[in-house]
Amino acid sequence: MAGATAATPMDIDAAAPPPPPAGAAPKGKAPLGAPGRAAPWVEKYRPQSLADVAAHRDIVDTIDRLTNENRLPHLLLYGPPGTGKTSTILAVARKLYGSQYSNMILELNASDERGIDVVRQQIQDFAGARSLSFGARPSVKLVLLDEADAMTKDAQFALRRVIEKYTRSTRFALICNHVNKIIPALQSRCTRFRFAPLDGSHVRERLQHIIKSEGLSVDEGGLTALVRLSNGDMRKALNILQSTHMASQQITEEAVYLCTGNPMPKDIEEIAFWLLNEPFSTSFKYISDMKMRKGLALVDIIREVTMFVFKIQMPSDVRVKLINDLADIEYRLSFACNDKLQLGALISTFTNARTAMVAAAS
Ligand SMILES: Nc1ncnc2c1ncn2[C@@H]1O[C@H](COP(=O)(O)OP(=O)(O)OP(=O)(O)O)[C@@H](O)[C@H]1O
Ligand SMILES: [Mg+2]
Repeated sequence: MAGATAATPMDIDAAAPPPPPAGAAPKGKAPLGAPGRAAPWVEKYRPQSLADVAAHRDIVDTIDRLTNENRLPHLLLYGPPGTGKTSTILAVARKLYGSQYSNMILELNASDERGIDVVRQQIQDFAGARSLSFGARPSVKLVLLDEADAMTKDAQFALRRVIEKYTRSTRFALICNHVNKIIPALQSRCTRFRFAPLDGSHVRERLQHIIKSEGLSVDEGGLTALVRLSNGDMRKALNILQSTHMASQQITEEAVYLCTGNPMPKDIEEIAFWLLNEPFSTSFKYISDMKMRKGLALVDIIREVTMFVFKIQMPSDVRVKLINDLADIEYRLSFACNDKLQLGALISTFTNARTAMVAAAS
């Protein structure tokens, strides 16, 4: 129950909003107004309105139109982390309820209990409570189930009935990363929107906006590195930007890679060159030295080298085998296998690939 913004049984729309109880704002998201100066940038620059949400224009416009017409359906927003799902729904709630926000919305996220009891008690109590509105257009309430893929199956089955029973007065918004963890019956009760990873240009645009507001000095290489490392996750982009800013005044490509501990593109080129040209023992020595010197993790090297293998020319059967082997090494590394052995395995697969390439050429 802790952390949920629960409504009192009888909410009167025209009354002045009560001061929020201590600790009521879930996950540090200030429902109204921007967070203070000391807030991490991900919160400081959380979109306050739907217009601020970068990318996903079609989804946001559709939700905006439905909100304006007071025809909001039950929603299911899904997609990878840091793409604006929670921000979008909070912006909708802010637009719908303004100062009544805390009375009209019940927000439950992964930090709250997610079993069947919550559906039976907390959600039913909130949905069943009558909200009186004087004058103003009657609004439906909103139950926001963030990280809904963490809900137990029993809770999801119980929710099916609750959604139907209270449709007149309450809308449900489910948010999750993995839509296949939501039972089909719930999915069919909601309008689904997929939030894809943000594309590079949108991440870049949003970063430029933040760089300008904070007065940072970021060069072109630094910005490109931020966009590349974020992989379409805006939260990640902002976190890297802030940590790099704390580490160095000038945000350059090198500073960004150094701060995140990721191998630089030119390091990867060098490693790939060794793997494709040097004998086993020399490659082993060079790569081990570079790992030590730059504090690189083998798993990051494997990931980047794989991207490199996609790009260079080689017979397709050699490429298939190589990528398969790289996937195996990555899998083994996830079980904390010996780093040295796995580095040996990496060089061995490339040695085999080289032999296969020579055979194919002759
Ligand atoms: N589309 C976007 N436009 C602008 N900022 C964004 C966008 N998506 C994410 N952000 C930034 O990233 C932060 C996290 O976004 P949000 O909480 O909405 O992600 P999410 O999709 O709910 O991720 P998760 O699945 O991890 O909960 C926001 O505070 C905001 O600063
Ligand atoms: Mg979220």
